[in-house]
Amino acid sequence: MTLGSVGATLRGAARGAGVSTAPGAADPRASQPFPEHVRPRFPQRLLELESPLQVVFLMHTKWFSKTPAKPLVAQKTPIKVELVAGTTYRWCVCGRSKKQPFCDGSHFFQRTGLSPLKFKVQETRSVFLCTCKATQKPPYCDGTHKSERILKAEVGSPL
Ligand code: FES
Ligand code: FES
Repeated sequence: MTLGSVGATLRGAARGAGVSTAPGAADPRASQPFPEHVRPRFPQRLLELESPLQVVFLMHTKWFSKTPAKPLVAQKTPIKVELVAGTTYRWCVCGRSKKQPFCDGSHFFQRTGLSPLKFKVQETRSVFLCTCKATQKPPYCDGTHKSERILKAEVGSPL
């Protein structure tokens, strides 16, 4: 059974269950799977699609925006952390993580189109990692948070 035929079956069942008409009268909504005033939600829209390719396309456009969002100013001072040699770290690029300066997956769930910066260090050492997201030497703080642009910006605002 194809996805299209499943959708057609479910649409037919929905019509049969929800609409009653006078005998012999044509149901004006019979050709529409949903009432006009209801905008189908994302899972319902999947039932209207005819091919798996359309499903993949819809899910892709839903989850991955074409234009990446701007990073947000998470904080205005760097965070000192001790990095262990050989460990892979994921620095938050988007500024939406609740675990600054590291990524907590918010860039994905908020569909920013941004990705964290993965990095390693050769030796264990303490460093200052950027939280304003404006550094020119990510993931490290380069002092840009002291610039007028960042000082004037509000925490949580886009760069
Ligand atoms: Fe910001 Fe992942 S939460 S890059
Ligand atoms: Fe971003 Fe210092 S905190 S440059």
